Amino acid sequence: EKQGFKHFMLKEIYEQPGVVRACLEAYLDTSWSPESATSPIKLNLAPELYSDLKQVQIVACGTSWHASLVGKYLIEQLAGIPTMVQYASEFRYAPSPLTPNTLTIGVTQSGETADTLAALEMEKQRRAGQSPRFEARLLGITNRPESSLGHMVPQVIDTHAGIEIGVAATKTFVAQLMAFYALALDLAYHQQTLSATRLEQILLGLRQLPAQIELILESQERYIEELAHDFAETQDFIFLGRGINFPIALEGALKLKEISYIHAEGYPAGEMKHGPIALLDAKVPVVAIATPGLVYEKVLSNAQEAKARDARLIGVTPLEASESAEIFDDLLPVPVVEELLSPILAVIPLQLLAYHIAARRGLDVDQPRNLAKSVTVE
Ligand code: M6R
Repeated sequence: EKQGFKHFMLKEIYEQPGVVRACLEAYLDTSWSPESATSPIKLNLAPELYSDLKQVQIVACGTSWHASLVGKYLIEQLAGIPTMVQYASEFRYAPSPLTPNTLTIGVTQSGETADTLAALEMEKQRRAGQSPRFEARLLGITNRPESSLGHMVPQVIDTHAGIEIGVAATKTFVAQLMAFYALALDLAYHQQTLSATRLEQILLGLRQLPAQIELILESQERYIEELAHDFAETQDFIFLGRGINFPIALEGALKLKEISYIHAEGYPAGEMKHGPIALLDAKVPVVAIATPGLVYEKVLSNAQEAKARDARLIGVTPLEASESAEIFDDLLPVPVVEELLSPILAVIPLQLLAYHIAARRGLDVDQPRNLAKSVTVE
């Protein structure tokens, strides 16, 4: 069932263009035009959820927590609603104060993660017997609508990734990002924070993503496989990103540590000078996500700081950006897209890098030591 791929993880990485297409089909209303008096997004959420919405809080673990950090950025930037993201395991013992205007979202691909379920059960209890509007403001984002999560919350957004077998989440992460694009745009429509032109622009950008992911996979896998040879003995890695790509730095580091057992840290690039820069030398490669946008120049200058400490610099950056080509020792090119859409492309080379380094080390990529596909204990 690996369909010719050596591991399920690699097969699932290659399924991502199809997953993004499935999400677009499920979430976008193809009959929508700027003249329509309806949302361009089909999520079938309760109408009470939208009225007078003032705050969003998201709980999740692991990779789902990283997707939620991107979600926070999208909801705040597109819909203008303040959003908090918490680890479910922390939240359940220190829940934030709640108002009837708060929407709580639990994100879990498996729908079975004990900490996330416990946090949501607590939220359900906190809402019980209150107004219908308050009770409706509980939402799950999951790849398994039939899971325990699906039975617990009044509504779910299905992420349509199909079953994921590799313990390291890949296609379900990309699908969670798609769910957050859809949710943020839907909330923005209801909050009336975007012009019709801007909405159309983002929808157009979303529709181009599957072909762009295909392009990255086709053009880079061989190169990344070669590059991985150089890191078979490496002991530490640093991943840097800023803004909407900071969570992608965290995700790149998590993928690498999970399956290759190499120590890896994801850091917001601007924070590097406040401590982690002390770790850098020629033995610690630095991967920087430098995609065009508000923080592009800033990331490049942070990368220069690492280079000055002899770090080998790997850049996830468009080929067109000639400034980048001069700074980085190795390039993992991604197409130029608007900043909001860049995380879903930037994560692809990082998944391939983690995969090939682990495969090169001869490790059991699909079943890494000490990990299970879903963590059903506290
Ligand atoms: O099923 P969930 O999304 O709730 O799982 C959460 C984490 O356990 C999960 O993302 C874990 O970090 C993965 N192994 C990441 O690749």
